[in-house]
Amino acid sequence: MIKRGPKIPPKEFAARRAELMGLMEPGSIAILPSAMITSRSGDVEHVFRQDSDFYYLTGFKEDEAVFVLAPGREHGQAILFCRERDPEQELWHGRITGPERAMQLYGIDDAFPIADIDDILPGLIEGRSRLYYNMGVRSDFDARLIGWVKTVSGNSQAGTRPPGEFIQLSQLLHELRLFKTRAEIEVMRHGALITGEAHRRVMAKVEPGMSEYQLEAEFVHELMMSGARAAAYPSIVGGGENACILHYVANDDVLKKDDLVLVDAGGEYEYYASDVTRTFPVSGRFTESQREIYEIVLRAQLAAIDMVRPGNHWNQPHEAAVVELTRGLVALGLLQGEVDALVEAEAYRCFYMHRTGHWLGLDVHDVGEYRIDDAWRVFEPGMVTTIEPGLYISPALEKVPARYRGIGIRIEDDVLVTREGNEVITQSIPKKIDDIEAWMSATA
Ligand code: GLY
Ligand code: MN
Ligand code: MN
Repeated sequence: MIKRGPKIPPKEFAARRAELMGLMEPGSIAILPSAMITSRSGDVEHVFRQDSDFYYLTGFKEDEAVFVLAPGREHGQAILFCRERDPEQELWHGRITGPERAMQLYGIDDAFPIADIDDILPGLIEGRSRLYYNMGVRSDFDARLIGWVKTVSGNSQAGTRPPGEFIQLSQLLHELRLFKTRAEIEVMRHGALITGEAHRRVMAKVEPGMSEYQLEAEFVHELMMSGARAAAYPSIVGGGENACILHYVANDDVLKKDDLVLVDAGGEYEYYASDVTRTFPVSGRFTESQREIYEIVLRAQLAAIDMVRPGNHWNQPHEAAVVELTRGLVALGLLQGEVDALVEAEAYRCFYMHRTGHWLGLDVHDVGEYRIDDAWRVFEPGMVTTIEPGLYISPALEKVPARYRGIGIRIEDDVLVTREGNEVITQSIPKKIDDIEAWMSATA
């Protein structure tokens, strides 16, 4: 059943624009292009998704658009260039909003046909001394922007001057995106709920003999049935030793009874990503070896989550995770030595080679700095991070006892920093061994 969920209200998009303008230097202008449609094969295109920065400031979901913020402009500060309505085009390719309706629907102050941009944009740039733009992301658009700036320079006999300073827009914008508002948190909680339904369905439906992509289909089925249009990223469904391949997306092996399966999958709801991993036995019951490794990863994950709170710094969850992982590996005899020295030497890296989390939001690997002036960033309320330790015991590690080889486990949740500490927004998804086994046996 589709769960009706919250949306970002239009006034919040306007508030974001106002906040950004408040941070921009006097006499400046910001320019952002929309994302582009890209080819998948022949006449087939990849499903279009708006650029996250562009979406954050406008809510506008079409391609071939350019958004401009010109603080203090008399005829309107928020300006959109977009395609004009065209019944023939709309018949073939879908509805077009058009400049007039974009102003009404998205609270844009002024809008023009994209076909007129070469005539209009130089005039908007003229007289502005600083230009904010994400240079180096879209080389085709970089070239067009330089062209518009040149047009302004070419008019200099008329007393106009091009901007003297070019500033990465991301420096300001990505700081704003890092801190989630109440409305964004509501949207992300809802996305987490849908993602939770999908993970529970996957655990309920798994059977030996299924292919990994059939299990992926169960995940995507539940996402769509519950009201998320798509996955936020290609789902990773790795049975057995495939779980040791960190970015495994082939998903085309058959699931075997005695194997674990690692499912790293999340929905995109109202443009916000969830990013969750659960690892569970295809049979519904963990073997002793699987249980031993799983318990270590779970302890590491809980210790890391506990470190997510205001005042702690970004790397503390990772530090807590690697201590727990190392302790567990020593207890099992997979590492030999003293825990502190092994952590210092990063001896765990042959079993755990990635970091423990990343910011989460409109992008799965969301924007925002992890370090400020050479120091780890400190957690503050409103930030959302994943916490995702794992152990990957490659079959190639011949020194490891055979009973552990080929076991790959990751446990990943989405964690909001609150004033008091944190909230695991994906906590509804079974994670303890007893809870996973109970859910799988109840739904077998
Ligand atoms: N799903 C990608 C990641 O966990 O970072
Ligand atoms: Mn993930
Ligand atoms: Mn992740």
